[in-house]
Amino acid sequence: MQRFEGRVALVTAGAQGIGAAVARRIAAEGGKVVVTDLQEDKVNELAAELDGLGLRVDVTQRADVDAAVAATIERFGRLDVLVNNAGGCIVTSVPEDTTDEEWHRQLDLTLVGAARCIQAALPHLVQARGNVVTISSVNAIGAFGNIEYAAAKAGQLAMTTNYAARYGGLGVRFNVVAPGTIRTPNWDNQLDTLEKFKKMYPLGRVGEPEDVAAAVAFLASDDASWITGHTLPVEGGVLTGPGLLDLTPSGPFRKEY
Ligand SMILES: NC(=O)c1ccc[n+]([C@@H]2O[C@H](COP(=O)([O-])OP(=O)(O)OC[C@H]3O[C@@H](n4cnc5c(N)ncnc54)[C@H](O)[C@@H]3O)[C@@H](O)[C@H]2O)c1
Repeated sequence: MQRFEGRVALVTAGAQGIGAAVARRIAAEGGKVVVTDLQEDKVNELAAELDGLGLRVDVTQRADVDAAVAATIERFGRLDVLVNNAGGCIVTSVPEDTTDEEWHRQLDLTLVGAARCIQAALPHLVQARGNVVTISSVNAIGAFGNIEYAAAKAGQLAMTTNYAARYGGLGVRFNVVAPGTIRTPNWDNQLDTLEKFKKMYPLGRVGEPEDVAAAVAFLASDDASWITGHTLPVEGGVLTGPGLLDLTPSGPFRKEY
């Protein structure tokens, strides 16, 4: 399938993990990708592999974001898809001890960062009748801990529905993908935790970056041309329940196969 033939996508935090998988998927489906991240060497390497453009961009810096969009237009002449992937947990203390400064940094990276990218991309998305896919988290929907991260991720959902309503008439779509636990370099120092998390997932495994990339590619493509303002959880079923009860066919409600 070449769903992105003739289209250009800008991906934030694309040096590794989910962002890199999204860039690869869009390129594999014929799109041109602009891969941006703080890690300049890694994005340049990936962009070279995908015949795209690599840029060092810090989403907390408006000048970086504006320059990235300008460079995209200069190189490819258009922008069809923005993938807001930059985000992460800033706060490590318990919520009762979180400082104002930590709250601000959390919101600035995850929520305002996505907002900055949308603002910079919008004139070109209007022109291309393009769309935005923002990578949120199941933390925006259920209680999985880290209140500051969850609040920032939930803010992305509200921003998305409101932008979707505001720009639908101009043909620009806004959607969210909310992943569960995804095996990315973010978890490299906690592989034992990842192993334990498997139990929470009815599908028996944590997710891979490619699971998220497939959902992003769907929402960013014309296959989703009548879908806007929505959140697609990509979470192996974790939102179906807390995993405390054994509801499997081999549990108390037994069914032999
Ligand atoms: N991995 C998971 O389990 C998981 C689950 C749900 C949601 N998410 C979300 O998916 C997104 C990607 O997560 P991941 O695990 O693939 O990431 P990761 O931790 O593997 O990589 C994060 C990337 O973000 C870049 N980055 C950090 N600060 C930045 C900034 N200010 N500007 C630009 N780039 C910056 C880093 O250089 C790095 O390349 C994040 O928004 C994260 O919150 C991840």
